Amino acid sequence: MIALGSDHGGYALKQEIMKHLDEKGLEYKDYGTYSEESCDYPVYGAAVGRAVAAGECDRGILICGTGIGISIAANKIEGVRAANCTDCYMAEMTRRHNDANILALGARVLGSGLALKIVDTFLETGFEGGRHAKRVALISELDARKD
Ligand code: RB5
Repeated sequence: MIALGSDHGGYALKQEIMKHLDEKGLEYKDYGTYSEESCDYPVYGAAVGRAVAAGECDRGILICGTGIGISIAANKIEGVRAANCTDCYMAEMTRRHNDANILALGARVLGSGLALKIVDTFLETGFEGGRHAKRVALISELDARKD
């Protein structure tokens, strides 16, 4: 199950992503927003972050105007590794090396054709493990630190 979320700036691209996932037969849950009315991206970044961190969804996709604000918000949730990607290489490497569990996209940065290719790359690429597992574990240790 894929968790989807966007603010108003990402709403239209999210509709295209949902259509794309439908065509591929992939299941998703939309955590909002549900219209192009102006709203606050941290609400949706946190909702998708919580769904992924809790294991309700395996992966998440977040969209705002730039992908920046919504990824910053999602990364505040313990266990989230959200990566804002602007090309397929970034999407591939953040899966292979960072085991990113949420993809963030900027609807005002990317054309929809490229955005859908980035989505496919993110969903189809596995984590390499090995030396990268130790580094990802070090990120998790940061979650527990309060200093
Ligand atoms: C909304 O206008 C815009 O600030 C938001 O979509 C996002 O780009 C923030 O990082």
